Amino acid sequence: MIQISVLGYGTVGSGVVEVLNTNKESIAKRAGQEINVKYVLDLKDFEGDPIQEKVVHDYSLIVNDPEVKIVVETMGGVNPAYEFVKEALLKGKSVCTSNKELVASHGAELLEVAKKNKVNFLFEASVGGGIPIIRPLNQSLTADEIQEITGILNGTTNYILTKMSQEGVGFETALKDAQEKGYAERNPEADIEGYDACRKIAILTSLAYGMHVNFEDIYTEGITKITDVDIRYAKEAGAVIKMFGTSKKVDNKVFAMISPVMINSTNPLYSVNDVFNGIFVKGNLLGDVMFYGAGAGKLPTASAVVSDVVDAVKHLGINIMQIWSSKPLELADINDSVH
Ligand code: HSE
Repeated sequence: MIQISVLGYGTVGSGVVEVLNTNKESIAKRAGQEINVKYVLDLKDFEGDPIQEKVVHDYSLIVNDPEVKIVVETMGGVNPAYEFVKEALLKGKSVCTSNKELVASHGAELLEVAKKNKVNFLFEASVGGGIPIIRPLNQSLTADEIQEITGILNGTTNYILTKMSQEGVGFETALKDAQEKGYAERNPEADIEGYDACRKIAILTSLAYGMHVNFEDIYTEGITKITDVDIRYAKEAGAVIKMFGTSKKVDNKVFAMISPVMINSTNPLYSVNDVFNGIFVKGNLLGDVMFYGAGAGKLPTASAVVSDVVDAVKHLGINIMQIWSSKPLELADINDSVH
């Protein structure tokens, strides 16, 4: 039996415990051994909930416990997640995280630290919620030069745009609904201004091209300027409005951006509705591949985190992630991009 710990018992952290309990036997079979949550770190107590017996408030109990081999980080935010994760990796523990802010800002360094310490830093849930996209880019699409990644990478904004278009619901109502369903970030600005999707395209671009992409360099426009009139106009033209994250390599230059686009039914992402995400990848030899599924939500996201835990258990002592250089990839001006 392997001991793990979960940092943060919010939507995703509690989902991780639920997934591990619900599919206990099949997960144990795939991992080759049973997985037990020894500690849960949270600021709060959960009196009356069986999880309370595992709750601790002091991270040093976890990081200094040699029995704990894997740390799951679902706290979100950069600090103190960064310090906690780095310390765990330096102490020879693998880390599985859903934290896109952390990966986008410190991914290059944490991948390097993990490699040096023969452990793993895994982040399948940081992009696309439950959709496998990090593992395919890291392990499957490795024979190809990646020419393009285009995706609907934020479930909340896709949910809002879908409701506005299909049900004529107002922006605020749709956002509130997404928040109630647990899709939105704590600060909804991160979703609607495109910042969340920006971190996600930065992660995918870094992984695809092996160099760190500064998310601050990515042109980012969210959906706050989209009005009912735009939605109606698109509808009358037989089109829909989506928020796309794109990175493209053209003539050795990489372009990356987040922006609303109007697309018609010939676009493969046209039917990606509600909280679903769709990610289209073009390889120079493989051609086009598409990934589709629940882009946010407790159990889909937790399922992706647990898939990383299984991978970490199966690869104890073996580093499996490609690293990316911390030298920033210089992005080309999107005004020069070929659309
Ligand atoms: N707020 C994010 C979204 C959660 O709506 O996509 C998943 O990263």
